[in-house]
Amino acid sequence: MSKRIYIFDTTLRDGEQSPGISLNSNEKLKIAKQLCQLGVDVIEAGFPASSKGDFESVRSIAKNVRGSTIAALARTTRQDIDRAWEAIEYAEQPRIHTFIATSDIHMKYKLKMEPGDVLEKAAEMVAYARSLCPEVEFSPEDAARTDKEFLYRVIEAVINAGARVVNIPDTVGYMTPDEFGGLIRSIRNNVSNIDKAIISVHCHNDLGMAVANSLAAVENGADQVECTINGLGERAGNAALEEIVMALKTRKDFYNAYTGIVTEKLYRTSSMVGFATGVHVQPNKAIVGVNAFAHESGIHQHGVMSNSETYEIMTPESIGLRQSRMVLGKHSGRHAFEEKLKELGYSNLNQEEINKAFVLFKDLADKKKYIMDRDIEALITQESSKANEKYKLEYFQVSSGSETVSTATVRIRSKDCVSEEAACGDGPVDAAFNAIGRAIGMKVNLDEYSIKASTGGNDALGEVTVKVSKDNTKASGYGVSTDIIEASVLAYINAINHIESRFQESGRIEREEFAFAKSCNYFGAGEIDNWGLEV
Ligand code: KIV
Ligand code: ZN
Repeated sequence: MSKRIYIFDTTLRDGEQSPGISLNSNEKLKIAKQLCQLGVDVIEAGFPASSKGDFESVRSIAKNVRGSTIAALARTTRQDIDRAWEAIEYAEQPRIHTFIATSDIHMKYKLKMEPGDVLEKAAEMVAYARSLCPEVEFSPEDAARTDKEFLYRVIEAVINAGARVVNIPDTVGYMTPDEFGGLIRSIRNNVSNIDKAIISVHCHNDLGMAVANSLAAVENGADQVECTINGLGERAGNAALEEIVMALKTRKDFYNAYTGIVTEKLYRTSSMVGFATGVHVQPNKAIVGVNAFAHESGIHQHGVMSNSETYEIMTPESIGLRQSRMVLGKHSGRHAFEEKLKELGYSNLNQEEINKAFVLFKDLADKKKYIMDRDIEALITQESSKANEKYKLEYFQVSSGSETVSTATVRIRSKDCVSEEAACGDGPVDAAFNAIGRAIGMKVNLDEYSIKASTGGNDALGEVTVKVSKDNTKASGYGVSTDIIEASVLAYINAINHIESRFQESGRIEREEFAFAKSCNYFGAGEIDNWGLEV
């Protein structure tokens, strides 16, 4: 009989630990809702004890997402476990995931604890977590490098203490598939009470073997796989969810296992996470890279045209990539536009969002002859990342040339306050970014800037992604326009808005509001006292 494998997604926890990634609460909630629609069994929403912002976003996901189990990570301390429980207590199905390292190297140099004390702590804290939460998962961190006999004893003790899931992490991505599969088999054979728990695996990709190791674990009796969208995660990342799921689906004959994932939503989920994090997958990425279903050589094209199975082991449709039969343009009406949204998988947009998207589409159709699927995705991605923006662009102008100093003027609105500033810079983008910094009264560091054309053609949309930071807070921003300076300006303001919302989450907003208020040099009619300033 075919075996059901549970998919535990840790994009919002381990994935968010990727270098340079920082998501705000709003973005995390959107991703969590998408993961739930994707059919993920467990969403690890975050590590509530790590920051106030993480706590708030886990809590908001627990309150608002129904259909998946919501897990929160905690070290084996009462404070962490209390904080995790406080964050998820209102979830439909809450799970506390607690961990402590068990390898010699971690116990000696990181924890500075004796093995016996680690074992005791693990069992004691699992029991404590169980007194609060009906479902507890335990991870012996760095299990792959842990002495096997000790690992069996720890697992046995935590299951006796009430852990329903034991997760075996290859924390540093050290193992080979044969070894890791063997480890899972040996746990099955040597832990006396293992039938009372689910075995989970959590593989990192330091040697590029995270997916292979996870699949080897499935072959050897693992019931749950922990993974992330696009393989995001600490260092080289975690096992990629889309690869695990499609391997199990495509090679069902071999693995004799299946998941509850709605694979047709994989592509949308991957691109949503790519845009929210600013980390896009490489073109040749398995399953979701732009080239994953592209055939370049004539021989391959001929084969695929005669019978797609000659060179395609999965259909593009199975991951939600449809061959577009309908290209929109200036004369396309609302009905065709709404059909296109459905075709692209945006079935969860509300009427107001559809109306907004339609206005943007019509604006774009005035500038661009054919509106491709990617253009629509780009517009919607931009709109959704703008939700609750505090600062909005009203106007910008740049002047630039080979013999002149670039200058820019921007006008930015926040509620009824409008701030207009000009600045020079090294090129039009730098000038515009300097003017934005002045107008808002907040200078951020620009850590990364990238631009690409959404489609081919001279009238293609420019898609700009920026990563910025301020005082150890990081954020990314996204902007699209047929004018690349405008796309850059929108992306930069979007990133500053994300920094602002991170500050808000951590209680730093008053100082920043004051900064904008001070720089605000023109007031619209009405409520100026919002800013506490005299006219
Ligand atoms: O990689 C790891 O060991 C982890 C644990 C916290 C599960 O992320
Ligand atoms: Zn990890």
